[in-house]
Amino acid sequence: METIRLPRVMMDTAWKERLHGKGIGLVPTMGALHEGHLSLIRAARAENDMVVASIFVNPMQFAPGEDLEKYPRDMAADMEKLKAADVDILFAPEAASMYPKDFSTSVSVRGISGRLCGAFRPGHFDGVATVVLKLFNIVQPARAYFGLKDYQQTLVIRKMAKDLDLSLEIVLCPTQREADGLAMSSRNAYLSGSERAAAPVLYRALREGAAAIRDGERKTAPVREKIHSVLRSEPLVNGIQYASAYDPESLEEPEKIKGNSVLLAAAIRIGACRLIDNLILNDLK
Ligand code: PAJ
Repeated sequence: METIRLPRVMMDTAWKERLHGKGIGLVPTMGALHEGHLSLIRAARAENDMVVASIFVNPMQFAPGEDLEKYPRDMAADMEKLKAADVDILFAPEAASMYPKDFSTSVSVRGISGRLCGAFRPGHFDGVATVVLKLFNIVQPARAYFGLKDYQQTLVIRKMAKDLDLSLEIVLCPTQREADGLAMSSRNAYLSGSERAAAPVLYRALREGAAAIRDGERKTAPVREKIHSVLRSEPLVNGIQYASAYDPESLEEPEKIKGNSVLLAAAIRIGACRLIDNLILNDLK
């Protein structure tokens, strides 16, 4: 595996590969790699001539006071995992080379970026869209892989790709979970033992909301109440930012669930840790 630090070098390398007819699969990450990231890499490996994984803890998507400084970083362990997963190139730029002092552009996908997580993390999705567009331009992938764990992020990126006529395929991969249902996340490392034991309540709450819908409930309020009541039953949950049923395209919370699919999504706090999760119900009658 080759490691490239400079965007210019990554760009030249990608151009050469493309000239030789190679299709590149890109997996953007912020590192502290776990099985969720590795599932994206496996999907990229199966579908592309060459796989590039990026590790970049993107300062632009963290608001002041968020966890940019303490975000888990373990480059040595990550490199071993990427090598074992047969990644061809690790692109790991420095912040100064991605955002030189005179950097002044921001990509903003209006509307959906302000909902759900966006309402609690102002500017977050602008930071994500901007860095992802930069990564696309630097790596020039035929396909890029994203996890449905961050459902809103996948919507923002798909909308950006459509609005800006990006010529690549955005591939979405299912959420990888621990045996007890907790969605894998680099931030799970922040949880203490008792918090980790409490954390599966998030997925359990979403599943109970889903069960109510499967049983025929179509009003959103009782579904929301069901999810909230499960979350409130866990004493270590010390904040519910949002938790309900949403339109999977607009992310609006409808009064009644219509159509054949619905998104159940939530963001909660356990201790100092913010956890998000979601599930999508398809084939509703
Ligand atoms: P990060 O949180 O490191 O996640 C990188 C990719 O892995 C994202 O597409 C995310 O959805 C996916 N992922 C994380 N946990 C997952 C899980 N349990 N199952 C499946 N996929 C999972 O998301 C980001 O970084 C950044 O915002 C980024 C897109 C790299 C831009 O900076």
